[in-house]
Amino acid sequence: MNFEYSTEQAEIKATTMKFAREVMMPKASEYDQSATFPKDIIEKAWELGFLNTCIPAEYGGVGFSAVDSMIITESLAYGCMGMNTAIMANDLALLPIVIGANDEQKKKFLTPFTEKPLIASFCLTEPGNGSDAAGLKTTVKDGGDHWVVNGEKMWITNAGFADLFVVYATLDPSLKHKGICAIVIDPKESTGIEIGKPEEKMGHKCSDTRGVRFNNVKVPKANMLGAPGEGWKIAMKTLDHSRPMVASSAVGGAQCAYDHSAKYASERQQFGRPISQFQAIQFMVAEMAMKIEAARLLVTKSAWLVDQKLPNTQLASFAKAFAADACMQITTDAVQIYGGYGYSKEYPVEKLMRDAKLIQIYEGTSQIQRLVIAKEIFSRS
Ligand code: CAA
Repeated sequence: MNFEYSTEQAEIKATTMKFAREVMMPKASEYDQSATFPKDIIEKAWELGFLNTCIPAEYGGVGFSAVDSMIITESLAYGCMGMNTAIMANDLALLPIVIGANDEQKKKFLTPFTEKPLIASFCLTEPGNGSDAAGLKTTVKDGGDHWVVNGEKMWITNAGFADLFVVYATLDPSLKHKGICAIVIDPKESTGIEIGKPEEKMGHKCSDTRGVRFNNVKVPKANMLGAPGEGWKIAMKTLDHSRPMVASSAVGGAQCAYDHSAKYASERQQFGRPISQFQAIQFMVAEMAMKIEAARLLVTKSAWLVDQKLPNTQLASFAKAFAADACMQITTDAVQIYGGYGYSKEYPVEKLMRDAKLIQIYEGTSQIQRLVIAKEIFSRS
């Protein structure tokens, strides 16, 4: 057992943190306040190989391990959790292809992402189905030499900029999860796709979030991932891979809040001394450091299980729930340590607190993670 980064991982950490500090952080507040999609940041991240970390080397990817991806995601979220969401959403959308596609589909759909900074969206959630993902209503029907997709998706990250959608649709809603299919839709080659207006959100304001409607969209037969009805398992396996990544973004956001808080507490004077000398502040900062370390260890183990090709459903949910809840607590305490200044947009911590909230919600709420953990304990062991 070894808790140290390899030489390559230490380099990944140093390069991504430099990118976070020098490229992302200077623009984070401006892009947040103007809700500007970080296309320029995405393009620079792509040039450096930090985008689409899940694409295997044989399809033109850099060949990062899952643990490497966590290191990258943590740094990018340190730079800005909202920008990181736009970057990380590509991996979420490409993972079903990595997991469920045949060789020809992988070449066709993954390779273009290694040639250009393209954008992808994962379309599972619907207006009426969030946590109950298997209750989705979007349909896919056999149209002879093609599939026909009809329905509405909601809260779709990157939808307004997407070059590719991975859409979950059912052959028959009464079949629940057994009827769900995963299908790749290329918007340039399709008619009948309506993209909604950008949602106005509390945090992650620079990331693009919209509804998408599919009206009789004809899709080539060759675009279905796996056999009809295998889409649900592909979605669940995707979330097993992507939840550690979301958890590592929570660690990055929490680390950023901690660094700001520890520095501010050492500088801010009250009652004739730095507030870091008061136990009330010390306990908050100590709690932050402890939770960040624990969350990072859970993230690393859940990703390491992916690299070992071992089941990680329970660990992924441990990491996602623990890190997201820790990030919420840590960013809230950061605002508390800053006092009145913490509540102002002139200082960075109010944004961190708003951004943290979404990590407890997307890719399965903190409550759904506990449900998954309980299912693993009582039903699947
Ligand atoms: N791997 C493989 N199979 C799995 C699995 C996994 N991790 N989890 C469940 N399954 C299988 C079960 O074994 C079962 O299979 P069988 O029928 O063969 O026995 C089947 O799936 C159904 O499982 P459940 O009975 O547990 O299903 P459920 O409907 O009761 O609950 C749930 C499932 C875990 C709650 C699931 O609906 C879920 O994860 N919900 C949250 C949805 C979510 O995370 N959405 C995120 C959207 S993406 C987003 O937020 C992105 C963004 O843009 C940033």
